[in-house]
Amino acid sequence: MQNNHNIIISQGPVCLKGSVRISGSKNASLPLLAATVLFKNKVVFTNLPHLDDIGTLAALLSSIGSQVEWINDGLTLEHKDKHSLYLDPNMANKIRGSILLLGPILARYGEIRLPMPGGCPIGKRPIDFHIHALEQLGATFIVEEHQIYGVAPAGLKGAYIRFPKPTVTGTENLIMAACLASGITVLENCACDNEIDELIKFLKSGGVSIERNHTTIIIEGKNQFLEAQSPFKIASDRMEAGSLLAACAMTEGHIELKYESCPGLDVVLEHLTDMGMDFSTTPHGLRALVNKPLRARSFITEPHPGFPTDLQAPFMALNCVSHGFSMIEERIWENRFFHAEEFLKMGAQLSIQGSQVSCHGHRTLQGALLTAQDLRGSCALLLMSLVAKGTTIIQKNHHLDRGYEFFINKINMLGGKISRQWCNDKELSEYGIKRSSLVA
Ligand code: EPZ
Repeated sequence: MQNNHNIIISQGPVCLKGSVRISGSKNASLPLLAATVLFKNKVVFTNLPHLDDIGTLAALLSSIGSQVEWINDGLTLEHKDKHSLYLDPNMANKIRGSILLLGPILARYGEIRLPMPGGCPIGKRPIDFHIHALEQLGATFIVEEHQIYGVAPAGLKGAYIRFPKPTVTGTENLIMAACLASGITVLENCACDNEIDELIKFLKSGGVSIERNHTTIIIEGKNQFLEAQSPFKIASDRMEAGSLLAACAMTEGHIELKYESCPGLDVVLEHLTDMGMDFSTTPHGLRALVNKPLRARSFITEPHPGFPTDLQAPFMALNCVSHGFSMIEERIWENRFFHAEEFLKMGAQLSIQGSQVSCHGHRTLQGALLTAQDLRGSCALLLMSLVAKGTTIIQKNHHLDRGYEFFINKINMLGGKISRQWCNDKELSEYGIKRSSLVA
């Protein structure tokens, strides 16, 4: 029997030029979708990205009573009375975003049985902050290996909560739960990413009073469901924008990013400016261009507004082909260097020591057979293929579809030479790949 392998084939080197639209933000969309459980009427989102993770969360919501309808560039969701609170483990395990159902379902129904969320294998990804904080609102939990069972029979009550350290989805879960709690909730040491501001904006439009002052968030709980007023437009994805800027920098190209609103790009723009990249604003967004060889820049990933961990992989790729020595330290996730091992196969000069990678930049990379292991890493492999000489083949590329909308099409529109193919073993051998080197 012939095996079929879905692979990405990229020919390099190329230079990216042209204009590209930035899609709606994945990590803003996930909490917004989960928050619809708190609403009594139909919610309309526009600029929602068509991504596998979004589809999975929408399907989970549909399984517990949301009427979900895909529209032109978005989605409508109307949360009817529950017909079941059963959440399919096969769906919930596929994404990390399913953890975002914990707060809103508990707040609305006083009960939840949530299969353990999945997501990229970039670290242990504990949920203790979510659980302890919701306990302080009055919920009780039994956390088992494969599921979390939570109840709040008397409803949730506002409380003072201080997170041990900033957590993005933990902050989002608590904000959502506190909306239907009685009284005031004060959250301290919160994450303050732009996606949290988007969630606050959406919940405020539904009638809740929420104030954020740096890392403190105050929510005045409502004893009634929220009411959507008008369509909510999702902001553009700063991680996609950052990844495309890294691609432009690596290929020494010039591109225009088109978006209406893409909050949170400042740290990336400052970083790239410091490396020597030039920017100008356009009527549609931002133009980036490389006029001179870029200098590698060291960085440490930190909670917002520090350098985002979700851009560590693409910016490591950039340092691999920029001038000079750099150090990268990953401080958020314990296991987010899969891509670095793959870069070595292309001839990158890297050394991995615990949470740090040191890098000597040079531009003589060679195409290779690579394996994607996580979302941002798979994007970084694709970026490396744009500068490497010859053919790069990336297997296990489904990770990319979880978080980057039409990414290959976009890169090709800018001058990339990338195709996706289903290959059998014989066709693969024509690319010089032996079946034994393929990951099952
Ligand atoms: C969000 O994950 C993002 N996911 C991640 O993006 C992102 O990498 C991460 O925030 C950090 O910016 C979504 O928004 C869906 P955290 P989240 O809770 O919320 C520790 C991507 O590629 N922690 O902010 O799961 C944890 O171990 C994804 O799009 C606890 O110890 O991350 C980590 O060190 C990957 N206990 C730190 O906090 C907890 O209960 C930050 O994690 C929760 C977190």
